[in-house]
Amino acid sequence: MKQRLEQLLTSAKQAISQAETESSLQGVRVAILGRKGELTALMKGMGSLSQEERPVIGSMVNRIKTEFEELFESRRVVLHEASLSARLSHESIDVTLPGRRSLQGSKHPITLVMEDISAIFAALGFGIAEGPEIERDFYNFEALNMPKDHPARDMQDTFYINEDLVLRTHTSPVQIRTMLKHEPPVRVIAPGTVYRCDSDITHSPMFHQVEGFLVDKHVTFGDLKGILTEFITRYFGADIGVRFRPSFFPFTEPSAEVDMQCVICGGSGCRVCKNSGWLEILGSGMIDPEVFKSVGYDSEKYSGFAFGMGVERIAMLKYGVNDLRLFFENDLRFLKQFN
Ligand code: PHE
Repeated sequence: MKQRLEQLLTSAKQAISQAETESSLQGVRVAILGRKGELTALMKGMGSLSQEERPVIGSMVNRIKTEFEELFESRRVVLHEASLSARLSHESIDVTLPGRRSLQGSKHPITLVMEDISAIFAALGFGIAEGPEIERDFYNFEALNMPKDHPARDMQDTFYINEDLVLRTHTSPVQIRTMLKHEPPVRVIAPGTVYRCDSDITHSPMFHQVEGFLVDKHVTFGDLKGILTEFITRYFGADIGVRFRPSFFPFTEPSAEVDMQCVICGGSGCRVCKNSGWLEILGSGMIDPEVFKSVGYDSEKYSGFAFGMGVERIAMLKYGVNDLRLFFENDLRFLKQFN
């Protein structure tokens, strides 16, 4: 028994010193001290020893066990440190390397155009107003001189939510909301999103408008022409031609559509302007007395003008974009050009 114990210690020492990794070292431990280990097996055989032998062998087993544990532990520390330093040298971090950049987003071109338009009107003394995109029938139609069954309602393919609620088809309801809240003089623009049940190459069911209106004493059609011409020349450049063409809107009288010289061909005629040399960019007119009546303004005392422009249209002309859908596809190659 003694001999076998000595042999076991010698072979265990060898195995420990030969273990190259912490897990193979652990294997050695199990092979000796584990439930089916060699030392465990020897200890089980102690039952058959005589009274005198038992304490001698017992203390020897204990000594071997302690020695084994000490050898095991010191080898384990050596192997652990070796593997740690190997990992550290392998995973070293070069703190002088440049960091990874996170992608920086930028404003959508439609947002940029709305901001630029707003800045020009702000410089002309206009404030900014907003209204809800889900709008009451009253503000979107009724108060704008379009009672129920008015044929002009068909001009705008409306998304109805219910009898009384629509997705606003234009930004003109902000006129009503603003005038109900403020007495003249008012001078306001209202940029925003609008919706029409219409979708093809040149129409999107969701698009943007900038509304504007001004009410005061003695406002004339000359003021309307002056402000809109000033806006177009500030935004597109001083040499761009502008013309006012008679038109109709239920909420303005008289009404005019405003054309500007085609920026693509310079007025000589092309596909974009359908060979006319002109492009329509906005609707406008003197606010109808019926509208003043529905907001409680005295049309004997006050007059005013209003206009509404399509932002996508203006963005296409400003940046030479020939397909409306590019604004909504969110292709980064397109959007990045407006950084
Ligand atoms: N709301 C009209 C439209 O969407 C535009 C407009 C606004 C016309 C204000 C006249 C006055 O077509």
